[in-house]
Amino acid sequence: MTKKQTIESTIQADTWNGNNVVSVSQFTESAIDALFELTDRLKAMGRSQLRQWNPLSGYVLSNLFFEASTRSRISFASAFQYLGGSVDNTVGVVFSSISKGESLSDTIRVVQGYVDVIVLRHFTVGSARIAADNSTTPIINAGDGIGEHPTQALLDLYTIYNETKRLSDLTIAVVGDLQHGRTVHSLVHLMRLYTNIHIVAIAPNDLQLPADSVHALQGSGIRVTQTDDFKVGIATADVIYMTRLQRERFQSESDYERFEKLYILNRALIESVCKPDVVIMHPLPRTNEIHPDVDDLNQAAYFRQTDNGLYVRMALFLLVLLSPSELRNHLNTV
Ligand code: CP
Repeated sequence: MTKKQTIESTIQADTWNGNNVVSVSQFTESAIDALFELTDRLKAMGRSQLRQWNPLSGYVLSNLFFEASTRSRISFASAFQYLGGSVDNTVGVVFSSISKGESLSDTIRVVQGYVDVIVLRHFTVGSARIAADNSTTPIINAGDGIGEHPTQALLDLYTIYNETKRLSDLTIAVVGDLQHGRTVHSLVHLMRLYTNIHIVAIAPNDLQLPADSVHALQGSGIRVTQTDDFKVGIATADVIYMTRLQRERFQSESDYERFEKLYILNRALIESVCKPDVVIMHPLPRTNEIHPDVDDLNQAAYFRQTDNGLYVRMALFLLVLLSPSELRNHLNTV
């Protein structure tokens, strides 16, 4: 993070206001700096002060979740409510008229007429782009199948910065189901904005990062090492980003069972193999890939990571929904 551009200059440049958040490819380093600076301010305010602030009073969010979620759905909703807005949740296809055969584009064209912003999780790659093309209300992608999860990548990046105090000169080991893991897809692509990054992709061949992702990373100057050797792969890492096997994306249960217990991080392994100041992250939910005996280690950052999501998402809503002068005025009152 360079801090070259202050939040004030980014507000003036109108980087986020009114825009969709569909893919990490749309972010710039200066826009992320501004988002993180605002996130820091919101965290410092804390919930009791935030409760009285109400900058989004009168705004309405439609939280459309057509795939399972705990963190994203609840943190988006809580973030909006702490800022004074109201939330309407749709959870599961069965409670939407998509179950009657309505297309996603028709659903979005209708919902955009009711609300000020739409957060969408959907099982199809590209669904957030389709939604954005059918809406004049901002769309925030909360995960499109095995495609992307850009706001998760923002909170992951914010956590990396908070834990390591840098966003360059990092070796990041990403571990697990790299084929299907949208959080990994977004995070590694976001790292293209930074210098001297080494991605160590640890997975069996069948679950490795997609080849086009690897080529894109290498084309941006990122060093990529692909291996299935867990111990060797994590030994030099500054950050270990564990992920679960995405059981629901496998063709068959036997395919899933082949890989189920391949990589399990536990306290003994960390103490014998890893750098002492390694940062352990996970987008969660976890299954068996991080043993609970890791949870009490200082290096275990995954619950601090989920906490950060609330504030990153608050900052995102403020930058997307408020005009530069509105945001400036609200910030001047705290
Ligand atoms: N990390 C994440 O996206 O979690 P949920 O699926 O619970 O939202």
